[in-house]
This record gives sequence, C-alpha cells and structure tokens, in this order.
Amino acid sequence: MLKELYLPNPELAKEARIGSMEQYWYLQNSAKNDYEGFWGAFAQKKIDWFEPFDKVLDESNAPFVKWFDGGKLNVAYQCIDRHLDTRKNKAAIIFVGDRGEEIAVTYQELYRNVNKFANLLREDFGVKKGDRVVIYMPMILEAAYAILACARIGAVHSIVFGGFSAEALKDRILDAEAKVVITADGAYRKSKPYMLKPVVDKALEEGDTPVEKVLVVERNGEDVEWVGGRDYSYNELIAGKGITCEPEVMDSEDPLFLLYTSGSTGKPKGVQHNQAGYILWAQMTMEWVFDVKENDTYWCTADIGWITGHTYIIYGPLAMGATTVMFEGVITYPDAGRPWQIVESLSVNQFYTAPTAIRVLHKMGEDEPGKYDLSSLKVLGTVGEPIDPTAWKWYYEAVGGSKCAIVDTYWQTETGGHIVSPLPGATPIKPACATLPLPGIMAEILDPETGEKVEPGEGGYMCITRPWPSQIRNVWGDEARYVKSYFGDVKKDGKPVYFTGDGAVYDENGYITITGRTDDVINVSGHRMGTAEVEAAIKKHENVAAVAVVGKPHELKGEGIFAYVVLKSDEGVGDEIEEVRAINNIIKQEIGNIALCDDMIFVPDLPKTRSGKIMRRILRTLAKGEKVTQDTSTLEDPSIVETIEVMIGREC
Ligand code: PRX
Repeated sequence: MLKELYLPNPELAKEARIGSMEQYWYLQNSAKNDYEGFWGAFAQKKIDWFEPFDKVLDESNAPFVKWFDGGKLNVAYQCIDRHLDTRKNKAAIIFVGDRGEEIAVTYQELYRNVNKFANLLREDFGVKKGDRVVIYMPMILEAAYAILACARIGAVHSIVFGGFSAEALKDRILDAEAKVVITADGAYRKSKPYMLKPVVDKALEEGDTPVEKVLVVERNGEDVEWVGGRDYSYNELIAGKGITCEPEVMDSEDPLFLLYTSGSTGKPKGVQHNQAGYILWAQMTMEWVFDVKENDTYWCTADIGWITGHTYIIYGPLAMGATTVMFEGVITYPDAGRPWQIVESLSVNQFYTAPTAIRVLHKMGEDEPGKYDLSSLKVLGTVGEPIDPTAWKWYYEAVGGSKCAIVDTYWQTETGGHIVSPLPGATPIKPACATLPLPGIMAEILDPETGEKVEPGEGGYMCITRPWPSQIRNVWGDEARYVKSYFGDVKKDGKPVYFTGDGAVYDENGYITITGRTDDVINVSGHRMGTAEVEAAIKKHENVAAVAVVGKPHELKGEGIFAYVVLKSDEGVGDEIEEVRAINNIIKQEIGNIALCDDMIFVPDLPKTRSGKIMRRILRTLAKGEKVTQDTSTLEDPSIVETIEVMIGREC
C-alpha cells in the first residue's frame, strides 16, 4: 500500500471553492454546531425557490424525514430556466455520439427541447404530477430531455439501464406502476445498430400491464413493430409542440425519481429520491468535489441508467449551470485512446469514471494518454468500487500528468450524491482512499455491536448518523423495507442510524478507506448485483436443485460472479458447457448481460449449517482458491468443503 500523501496542487487550491483544510473544518464544524443553520443557509442560497420553506429538517417521524418542508420549487427550472439570463448561449450538454458526431446544446436549446417534450407528455399522453414514467433509453440527448421533461411536469421518472432484460424491465414497470414508457428504436454501439424497442415489446407482452402508451425516439431507423394505440413516434409528435411549458409547482418532498437497485435479499428496491434535498446536494457536490468553473467542460462517463448518470451527468452539472458531456459510445472503441482524444478535442477539465474503466484503459492502452494533449484536466474522479493502487497511480501519472486532484468519491444510489470524498483544492490525497466526509455529512465508522466510533485500524460499519438532504426517502411502496434495509443494523446512543452496507476503516489521520460490502451484494464493475437476484434467475433452470453465488476478485471488473450449482440429476445432462450456456441464457433473459457468471461450478451439495443456512463465507474463500480456515464443524456435512476444494483445484 502506498503511504504518501499528495498535497493539493496550489493552482487548484488558489481558485477552489474550498481551498484549504481550514475551510473544510470550518464548514464541517459549523454543520456540527448548527446543523439546521448550515443546511438552511445553503438551501436558501442555492435553490431558486418559488416559495420559501418553513422548516429545514423535520425528524419527528424518523427515519422518514422531511427537508425544507413547505418550500415550492421545480427541479427542471433549477437546472435550466434560472440560467437563461446569464448563460442562454452556453453549452449545457455536449453530446458525443458513438459514430463520432458532436452536438452542443445550449441552455436556451435545452429549455426549448425539454419544454416541447414536457408538452408532449402532458398533452398527448396525459401525464400528470405524480405519474410514473419509465425511461429505457440509450445515451442520447432525448434521454436527457425526457428526464428533465418529467421533472418539469412533476412526473416521477424511473430510468431502467438499457442493458437490463425484458424481464427486469417488466419487474420495474410493474413495481412502479408506470403509465408510460419512453424508449428508442435502438442506438449504436461500436458503430453498429442495436435495439431496445423489442425489449420493451417483450416486457409488455404478457399479463396485465399498467403501461398505456410507449413513446419511441427513432434513433437508428431500424425496423421495429408498432402496436396501434400504444406506440407513438417521438419524432412525429414532437414536431408540433409548443416551446413554452409552465413548470409544475412542486413541494420539497414530492418524489422526483425512483431508481431500482439491488439489495442483499429479494427483488431490487425502488430507491425514492425527492425534489429539494436531492437537487441541493447534487449541485453542492458538483461545485465542491469537481470544482467546475464557469468556462469548464466536465465529463462523466457513466450511463444515465445508474445513479452516477442521474446526479453527475444530468442533475448536478445542469443545476450549477455547467457544460456536461454526454457520451453514447464505448470508451475503448475504436481504440483505448478514445477518451483521451475526446478530452483533448473538447478540452475537458474534469473527468469522472469508474475504476473498472481505468483498469481496462490501462490494460488496453497504457501509453495512449501520452499521445494526446491532456493538459486541460484539473480533476479526475473515480466512483463505484474501491480503486486499487496500481490503477490509481496510472490514472494520477499517465492521465493526470501528476498535477490533477484525484477524487475517490464514495457514495451510493441511496445517498443521492457524494458522501466521502477528497476536495480537489483542500484535501491531501492518499491513493485509493476516499478520505473524509464532505462538509455537512455526519459519516462515521461504527462498531455494529456498541454503536461506538471505531479506533484507527479497526474495521467497522460505514454509517451516517444524521439525516442529510439527498438521502433516500423510501423504498417505493414498501416503508417496512426502507426501515429494515437501512436502519435495522446499527444504533448509536440507542437510536437507529443509516447503515450503508459497507465496511470501512480509519487510518491514523481519520481518513476513511472503504473495504467493501458487508452483505451479500456483489460489486461487478461498479454495479451492484444482489446474490438473491442472480440465484433466483439460475433457479428457473428446471434441472437446478440449489444454487449459491458469491463475489470473487476479478482483475478488471473488481468482482466477478462465481456460481455454485447443484443439479437435480445428471441424467439427460449433456456436457457441462451446454449446461452453463443454458443457465447463462436464463440469466440474460431474467436480468441482462451484466449478471452473467464469470465462473460456474457444478457441485454435489452446498456447505450448509444444520439449520440450512448456506455458509457464503466459506464459498467466498473457496472461490478465491484459498484454503478454508473457518470452522466447518457446524456444517451439516463438513466433507463437502473438501470435495469442493478438490473440484476447484482440479478446474484451475
Ligand atoms: O460498496 C460501495 C460501492 O458501491 C456501492 C454503491 O453502489 P451503487 O448504489 O450502485 O452506486 C454506485 C455509484 C455511486 C457502495 O455501497 N462504492 C461506491 N463508491 C465507492 C465504492 N466503494 C469503494 N470506493 C468508492 N469510491
């Protein structure tokens, strides 16, 4: 482990919004001393309220909390209209297409396009405040318009990542009881068309569906089926729409969006974020963590289907009036120099990506950054999973020219925005370390038994001990699950506190390093996969008697999925490769390619306790090819451990 601390670049510090540790501590201490005063002042300053709020924080029904109650606002107005006086001709979004096209959309154009979209949804589809709209879209401009159009008319969007299968899409549509789906015929990947609309058709084909209408953006012009009375072409309907659209007046705590994410058990949860608190923190973290300046170009490579895309491609950058790059393509296509070529050509100042992408770019194109002029870069961000020191060093030196701040941002779908992160002009950086809680965030590593803060070097649970504005408000339609999932594990001073599901450790300076999930969630390339979901899919195979999946360290993805499968019978089973293929096909149908297993092994049984609990810790050790040192005496059949050990040894 590298031990050195990298001091902030004085050039960055000079101009930064938070330019020293003194300023950091001043802010953090003022939040500690007067929590409501701190947040109330920022909310007043940062948000263009239609009507002011009466109360900063209402915890009377905790863990159901209200922020800025009584306030009225519109998030699309906050992201667009309020900039028109000073920035109407500034690029709001620069779209970089898969086939190389570049389109810059100014704030004025964004205003017009979002309003037209909003009018279409209101007038032609009858979408009203509170209605749920599923967005199943590629990374194209219309996806951004769709998101902001929903916000403008008060509809609650639920974006489903375009890589999810029909079955996964259907589950999310049903859970949210969505009235409308917005999709595209398809888009381009590596210059070839691929399709989305057929997946929507399949998701809606069987059983009762709440969906009344489907809006199809014609992107790649490939043939798709049109269902009369249900499917409508965006390209046709949008033509006649008016360019002004009254923004809906929203309460601070009206829902803004749902985003489904995996937990350790059961189906994905509909994480609900509300209006004011979410947009406030999206904007503040954009300003503090990326320190984007008026003339900067900022690029986050995420997909809008994940929370990073929501907060740090769309809402955060636009709320602060920045120029945000939206990239349709694949970062390694046509070669691993693609991102650096874009950085050079757009003169990108802040670049934000996942450790998986950094590892892949490093592996495929170690020397590529050196071929481009990357001198515009000031801040490099990472998100989604722990970054290893090797990838960190390459990012710092080869991409950042040893002069950029690396912000290792730790957060989750549920936190809405960054929670623990360095500040580029203030925090001395330790490689592969998320460092300190952001000002206003009371993040602490606690001992789950005692609720006390752990000592440096002792592992504990990463918790947030006070509510914060952009926190999850509910699991859609399931209050009990919200309470149990996040407030059931750790108590501080006798009161339940928010537990992230991650383990973490302090160093002697109080810096926080995230050590990974403490539950059965696997982090594949920075995307969360619940073991229960993958297991449920595998169990759909008729010859599967039992299954357990665990995470296994993976060179590029961080973690890969390792499945232990017990078959009902060997009879009629062709070769194992066929069986693996059949099971992976089911996973593809049920969830999507991102959940495909990296390893699958057919075993005679699983290590279970006498009460039937599968010992996942043992399975994780076995998957790594390590010797099991855990106590196996409580197992129903301890010999199974040795059998699996031998089988894995043989395979390797
Ligand atoms: O385990 C943590 C990991 O990603 C989880 C959140 O995943 P998701 O909700 O999909 O959001 C991903 C984008 C914010 C966390 O519980 N994680 C996220 N950021 C980091 C991280 N692990 C280590 N270091 C990070 N910077």
